[in-house]
Amino acid sequence: MKIFSGTANRPLSQEIAAYLGVDLGKILIKRFADGEIYVQLQESVRGCDVFLVQPTCSPVNENLMELFIMIDACRRASARSITVVIPYFGYARADRKAQGREAITAKLAANLLTEAGSDRVIVCDIHSTQALGYFDIPVDHIYGQPVILDYLASKTISEDLVVVSPDVGGVVRARAFAKKLFDAPLAIVDKRRQGHNMSEVMHLIGDVKGKVAIMVDDMIDTAGTITSAATLLKQEGAEAVYACCTHAVFSPPAIERLSGGIFEEVIVTNSILLPEDKCFPQLTVLSMA
Ligand code: R5P
Repeated sequence: MKIFSGTANRPLSQEIAAYLGVDLGKILIKRFADGEIYVQLQESVRGCDVFLVQPTCSPVNENLMELFIMIDACRRASARSITVVIPYFGYARADRKAQGREAITAKLAANLLTEAGSDRVIVCDIHSTQALGYFDIPVDHIYGQPVILDYLASKTISEDLVVVSPDVGGVVRARAFAKKLFDAPLAIVDKRRQGHNMSEVMHLIGDVKGKVAIMVDDMIDTAGTITSAATLLKQEGAEAVYACCTHAVFSPPAIERLSGGIFEEVIVTNSILLPEDKCFPQLTVLSMA
């Protein structure tokens, strides 16, 4: 078995290799002056089971292309099998045609990963589980929840918890989380437009008054969803609000929103590498290695 890392999150790849007691494989990845990507494996993979670790996070197109080229290099170097480990799968939100004449980019990315030569895929908390069916090769879907649950259990935050889904689409995920978090009750934020040209109205389904609210989502991107839901929870009497998510995408203005004082703590995993300037005092990053 050999593990190679792309450039998107080398520290996570190193942690995975250390956990397995192996060294990362040697690979040269560089950019030419015009932006083209060059990849060369610097050790033999002939007959090996190869694992390539690369979240396809921002810059998503760069990271995806780099992964395609890594797969191609392994295939042409006679690897026995190629498993791509994608801790964060970019484009997963483009999983259907919501309007006419749109692309289904998650399906396209799955096709291209297979076409490049992957034999198997491991993804973590993919935004839409239906996208798992876009691959015609085996897919393992793993979750960030166990790491976050262990952390919360170790903190013993409060006896009076409520798990909250910040939108209706996340109810199944939040319900599973609540069950494992001491069978906590569930609340749901329901956001809807009352009509054309009218602003969104948020309703809370469930009771958060006097409770510590643990909001669960797969990702925080601009933090609009989770911050507006947190504001509603505070208005409805929640004592404190925690945000938990696997993927810290953190596009602007996420940092301003998350560090603005509404959250007691923001708990994420390291599926995406966070630079220093995206870290703030309330942030806890757990390892999914
Ligand atoms: C939506 O369905 C997702 O689960 C996230 O809630 C959403 O993508 C987060 O985006 P943002 O942080 O920009 O509101």
